[in-house]
Amino acid sequence: MQINITKAQQLKPLPDDSGLGFGTLFTDYMLNMDYDPENRWHNPRIEPYGPIQMDPSTMVLHYGQAIFEGLKAFRTESGDIRLFRPKDNIRRFNTSARALCIPELDEQFVLKAIKKLIRLEQRWVPKAAGTSLYIRPTVIAMDPFLGVRASHTYRYFVILSPVGAYYAEGFNPVKIWVTRDHVRAVRGGLGEAKTPANYAASLYAGEEAHRNSYTQVLWLDGVEQKYIEEVGSMNIFFVIDDEIVTPALNGSILPGITRDSVIALGKAWNMRVSEKKIAIDEVMAAHENGKLQEIFGSGTAAVISPVGELKYGDKVIRIGNGGVGPVADKLFKAITDIQYGKSEDLFGWVEKI
Ligand SMILES: Cc1ncc(COP(=O)(O)O)c(C=O)c1O
Repeated sequence: MQINITKAQQLKPLPDDSGLGFGTLFTDYMLNMDYDPENRWHNPRIEPYGPIQMDPSTMVLHYGQAIFEGLKAFRTESGDIRLFRPKDNIRRFNTSARALCIPELDEQFVLKAIKKLIRLEQRWVPKAAGTSLYIRPTVIAMDPFLGVRASHTYRYFVILSPVGAYYAEGFNPVKIWVTRDHVRAVRGGLGEAKTPANYAASLYAGEEAHRNSYTQVLWLDGVEQKYIEEVGSMNIFFVIDDEIVTPALNGSILPGITRDSVIALGKAWNMRVSEKKIAIDEVMAAHENGKLQEIFGSGTAAVISPVGELKYGDKVIRIGNGGVGPVADKLFKAITDIQYGKSEDLFGWVEKI
């Protein structure tokens, strides 16, 4: 399929790299593509960034049939632009599509189209340390219809947003709140898909954590409320007795690409790494026995997010010395060095633009 480009009348001024936040500024262009049962996915096009006109009855607005992804483009010191594991994001996008009854996309074509968009928008990939261009592919259900069923028509779009360094003021360990009143996802539900419903389900507990001066929620499983699943919108890792441990994927956990990278690096460093069911009680016991060395989250936004404090019921525990543990520190450096081209890409994770 040919990707046509409609040029913008006027380009926006570039923001100052040093003042970038997250998700507030968008570039000049977006990628669009439509689906209907007769033409399948068709009419891929790059157009000036702008609003999507839709009927108030459009299905996505009522029943949330939508999926999205989040990945980043990085600028290396020599000025090249590279994507981190984009094929994995596109594969996960199709896994989410299947879970939401959305027609799958051609993975090779989508990668080509995203690269073309970024090539056109390369001036927007920031240069300052720790900054990147965030890429947000999305599909929304477009039928103007109020019946509950899967839509017949869809819009695919990709928007781009230059984002600042997550740790502009240095690595900042977070305080996490284990919720016993709310669950993010349940077995047989949508937890392993990247779909708005999971984020809507997370808001109430997130607000409650913030009101209590905690940064993120630690989610327990939706069946027994006993086993650890994720932290905020990140996967979670523990270092217990020198072993890296993370919850095994069980259908209600998002299979993070950073999670997979952490596991691969830990194994490459000859550390013991295991994916298994972990009860919150085991973590509390490991802390009491002096064996809980580190807790950290992993995700595209922060890469690695060390946890300094955890509250479960009326118990509050401090992890390590409340600062950044050596494993979290080494992983953050190793992953960001690959992303910014400062170290060799031994795993084939990097895709040049
Ligand atoms: C719910 C949730 N869990 C985990 C992750 C981490 O996934 P990844 O490492 O692919 O960014 C994300 C997204 O970033 C997420 O939204």
